[in-house]
Amino acid sequence: MTSMSHERVLHTTQNRVSYFTKVTGRQYPQPFSNTRRLSLAAQARQQELTARRQPVVATSVLHSQVCNDTIRVEFADGSTSDLPHLWLRDNCQCEKCFSASAQGRISLLKNLDLDTTPVHVQELQNGSLTVEWSDGHTSEFSGEWLHQRAFNPTSRQKRRNQYALKKAPWAGDFRPQVFDYRNMVEDDRHLLDWHLAMEKDGFALIRNSPDKDVAGPELINQIAFTKQSHYGPHSPVVVRADANNIAWTNSELGLHNDLAQYEHMAGIIFIHCKQQHVGTGGESLVSDGLNAAEELRRHHSEAFKLLTTTDNYYWDKGVANLPWEQDEFYKIARMPVITLDNNKEVIQVANNHAVRDSYLDLPAHKVKPFYEAMKTYNDILYENAITFKMAAGDMIVLDNIRCLHGRLGYEAHSTRHLESSYLDWDEARCRRRRLQEKLGVLEQK
Ligand code: OGA
Ligand code: ZN
Ligand code: ZN
Repeated sequence: MTSMSHERVLHTTQNRVSYFTKVTGRQYPQPFSNTRRLSLAAQARQQELTARRQPVVATSVLHSQVCNDTIRVEFADGSTSDLPHLWLRDNCQCEKCFSASAQGRISLLKNLDLDTTPVHVQELQNGSLTVEWSDGHTSEFSGEWLHQRAFNPTSRQKRRNQYALKKAPWAGDFRPQVFDYRNMVEDDRHLLDWHLAMEKDGFALIRNSPDKDVAGPELINQIAFTKQSHYGPHSPVVVRADANNIAWTNSELGLHNDLAQYEHMAGIIFIHCKQQHVGTGGESLVSDGLNAAEELRRHHSEAFKLLTTTDNYYWDKGVANLPWEQDEFYKIARMPVITLDNNKEVIQVANNHAVRDSYLDLPAHKVKPFYEAMKTYNDILYENAITFKMAAGDMIVLDNIRCLHGRLGYEAHSTRHLESSYLDWDEARCRRRRLQEKLGVLEQK
């Protein structure tokens, strides 16, 4: 630490009492201004900033203190944060280091000095913080910018929520939220509510969808764009001759995730009922794979361990049924049934009996315990499934890497016609964040 920063620590400590009190009133105390020791350039800069003096707001930096590896700041709302020197230097917002239009760093990691230190730190009247660095560079950070990125639990949790909303596992008594197709297209508030429901529950029902094959893709295009597969942008779920997928037959489909044969599975599936089978058959089942995984973790820890650590192959080899399908395809994906993230939270479920490969990369003696684990998980899924029959105009939307769906078999000569299409989570969350900003709804309901 330089002698200057050392004095600065003493200085700010002496001045603490004068303004560093708990903020209770409407008017925030103004930060002190230290013009001693400033270079001429810094003085000129400060005069300029004083000229565009702004009232202190909740995110203004009131106080800063240079510590070993961090600058400790206190904001006007009383919150504090230790801001690592290195992080600040890396995130300099000046136009040489950061492009405002691209919202990206121009500076290069290879040029970043990991031991950069501040030689002078100053709170400004407008609530910002300026830092003069040992390499001669100067950075200015607005209080709001720093407050949003503070290294404290509140700010970190806020960013986590922006990244992804909290999921709420559900069991067999769950009823999905219901939305109206036109409302979703015409009113962003309905669309945002749908996004919130999808992130929380992973399952929503849309009613009154228009009677056309591309009602799903058209809705997806309102949000972002479809995720295609070798089956094209949408798939008619009807009984097809020489079906290249079991789904296009009249067979019962066990609870499954679609497109497990893709390493990057489609995030969200839209299943639109254009015409339902009359009579018994064709009913839908939906179950929450997250809820079942948590139950497995609680009550069948060995099975949970096997399903989170054993890779399955899922595959799909075939030729086109329809003009917009790929002429020929041969997919192989490899992943566990349940994928955990670094915090041991379930982030993906891949369960599909139809496309699970007959190749199994296991020693023979490990096969039966693995099947037992898959079956235990499957049983829990069925115990907590909900069953219903879609009507024409209904569209169920599922988090395809969390919730599983199935259907009961139906008569081969039925006029039943469903249409499926997909949207990726990146695009859905992207739209949700923009809608939250636009509508000023930043907190999760
Ligand atoms: C599918 C599917 C459900 C149904 O096409 O992948 O699961 O009810 N269809 O036909
Ligand atoms: Zn810079
Ligand atoms: Zn399916």
